Amino acid sequence: MEIIEKRQSIRKYAQKVIPNEVLKSILNAGRLAPSWMNVQSWKFILVREPETKELLSKLACGQPHVRNCDSVIVCIADMAAWDKENFSKVLLKKGMKESAIENIMTMPGYYPPLLGENTVKLRTIEQLTYAVSYMMLEAESHDIKSCIIGAISNELTELNPELSEEVKSKLGLNAKEIIATMITLGYEAEPTPLNKQRKEFNEVIFSEKIGNPMD
Ligand SMILES: Cc1cc2nc3c(=O)[nH]c(=O)nc-3n(C[C@H](O)[C@H](O)[C@H](O)COP(=O)(O)O)c2cc1C
Repeated sequence: MEIIEKRQSIRKYAQKVIPNEVLKSILNAGRLAPSWMNVQSWKFILVREPETKELLSKLACGQPHVRNCDSVIVCIADMAAWDKENFSKVLLKKGMKESAIENIMTMPGYYPPLLGENTVKLRTIEQLTYAVSYMMLEAESHDIKSCIIGAISNELTELNPELSEEVKSKLGLNAKEIIATMITLGYEAEPTPLNKQRKEFNEVIFSEKIGNPMD
């Protein structure tokens, strides 16, 4: 809770390099996040090259912290992870029997591809949110500040398809790999007073039924 309370989005970073071991630990936190039946429909690309960060900043509607940070984690939604072959692999590894896996793949409630491509996209992005949270909290535990960058052009927003394609090609991504979001990382340039603006506890948390406050 201490880490959660002190974490806030920081957009001005010091010119100080984050050690590789710390970056690895942050990325590993993402890898260890939970996901739907352990599908792990994600990939993470660590970007530190100034030229690539510049391109990512463009993708993020010109946001300056994307080029001024030490590193960017590009979070990829990997739609192919739901393909029968890949999905079976993780379930087999979990110890599930082949017949049970085949059965699961006939049930729309358990196997999102049966509900169409849009559902797969939503479910894939959904998985990433947990990994992103894990990485941000691990970063904060090392006093590395971060900011999620969601205002980007990709297959969902279609803000600038040409630029999206250029970035995807630079990062070596295929059609089933979507840049879902990014995380900027760095040491903060100057201490920033904590400014956590949130809805009140009783505005968003209820007991048993909407409208009933918790004791
Ligand atoms: C899905 C998502 C997308 C976001 N996109 C951006 C963004 O593109 N640029 C940015 O500077 N901050 C972005 N943020 C950060 C939010 O503005 C920030 O988390 C929110 O205002 C709460 O402030 P705090 O993180 O300091 O507690 C995003 C946050 C989330 C969860």
